[in-house]
Amino acid sequence: MRERISPAAKLQGAVRLPGDKSISHRYAMLAAIAEGASRIRNYSTGADCRSTLACLGALGVRIVTDNGDVLVEGRGLDGLCEPDTALDAGNSGSTIRMLSGILAGQSFLSRISGDESLSRRPMERIMVPLRQMGAQIEARDGRFPPLEILGGTLRPIEYSLPVPSAQVKTCVLFAGLYADGRTTVREPVSTRDHTEVALREFGANVGKQGGAITVEGRPSLKARELEVPSDLSSAAFFLVAALLVPDSKVLIQGVGLNPTRAGLLDFLASMGADIRIQNLSQRHGEPAGDILVRTSSVRGGVIEKGMTAALIDEIPVLAVLGAASEEGLRVRDAAELRVKETDRIATVAENMQRMGVELEVYPDGFYVPGGQSFHAAELDSFGDHRIAMAFSVAALRAGGECAMEGAEAACVSFPEFFGILRQLAE
Ligand code: S3P
Repeated sequence: MRERISPAAKLQGAVRLPGDKSISHRYAMLAAIAEGASRIRNYSTGADCRSTLACLGALGVRIVTDNGDVLVEGRGLDGLCEPDTALDAGNSGSTIRMLSGILAGQSFLSRISGDESLSRRPMERIMVPLRQMGAQIEARDGRFPPLEILGGTLRPIEYSLPVPSAQVKTCVLFAGLYADGRTTVREPVSTRDHTEVALREFGANVGKQGGAITVEGRPSLKARELEVPSDLSSAAFFLVAALLVPDSKVLIQGVGLNPTRAGLLDFLASMGADIRIQNLSQRHGEPAGDILVRTSSVRGGVIEKGMTAALIDEIPVLAVLGAASEEGLRVRDAAELRVKETDRIATVAENMQRMGVELEVYPDGFYVPGGQSFHAAELDSFGDHRIAMAFSVAALRAGGECAMEGAEAACVSFPEFFGILRQLAE
């Protein structure tokens, strides 16, 4: 699908966004292996989170939607059933990596695959620890989906993550639920901690000391009534859009502000962005609040070291902001961008080039000089939701109408994106 995007004169209004993708996946998976029926409000509307529900359904979990809420009838730790066919994770790295931790604890054989993009994403990062725990796991060419997993009772391990990845941390902690004893994951830098928070909510015994996170095996998880805060990573597109488009004032309500994600807001503030947080609240251990953003001229900045992991999903849209900032944006230590839904260093560079924006590429990042303007261009999502949305934001500031090829990719995390963008620009 080709979406035409016209330059915007201003963005104004108040919006409430669908639920956080990361939290939705975790709530659904934990609800599936808890005792009793859970209700999840404001579950993510993205295709990725639907893939998680479909996989859980194929594992025998009864899931219904009721007025937008997702009801999950938990089957307890050992109640999942052998699926008839391969599980389909679609485009979702979170689904395949996190669910594999649970599949490793099952005494039946399961096969899990995904779309073309997912089939190119590396899986050794979960295969290594799951094998150490005693699961048998095979992959295409030793490292790519589909995966075949045969598990059972697992051994607890102490595992140091070679790359900072919340998906891998989650996979090992979920497998740890099926181990006899205490499983420990050490992180080189901290990553989003929704799993730790959610595990506690469902009644698991989780500890944290420095960079080490522990979970006790064989807990009895209890069903919960939960509400997912709005997705900060989806909000990021409107935050940058409102900063860039003149005369803008946008209120984004009920956004998840978990400190392991909200580094984005600190980073924007450090660039001089006019962003205010209002109505702070807390639900199920996850903080949330309203974010008010106004047009600002921003200085630019550097994303490197520990900061990179915290901002990893927002880097494409921050690159857009960087090009329009005073001093530009430098991103380092971000080789992980190359193994996301697309090689995001390459797809950012390609769309920047189409818009006449200069950008220097490094193996682990890029530098985009500031003070640049965006030319009208034919843009491409390359099938990547965050590229579709990041460059649609750039198009709001282009010299003329742009077209986004493959705009439907936005549906992976945020089907409402283009509708809300039009509403704010009216
Ligand atoms: C996620 C972790 C990150 C992020 C992804 C969601 C999660 O991936 O990019 O969109 O929910 O745990 P990695 O763990 O691969 O860094």
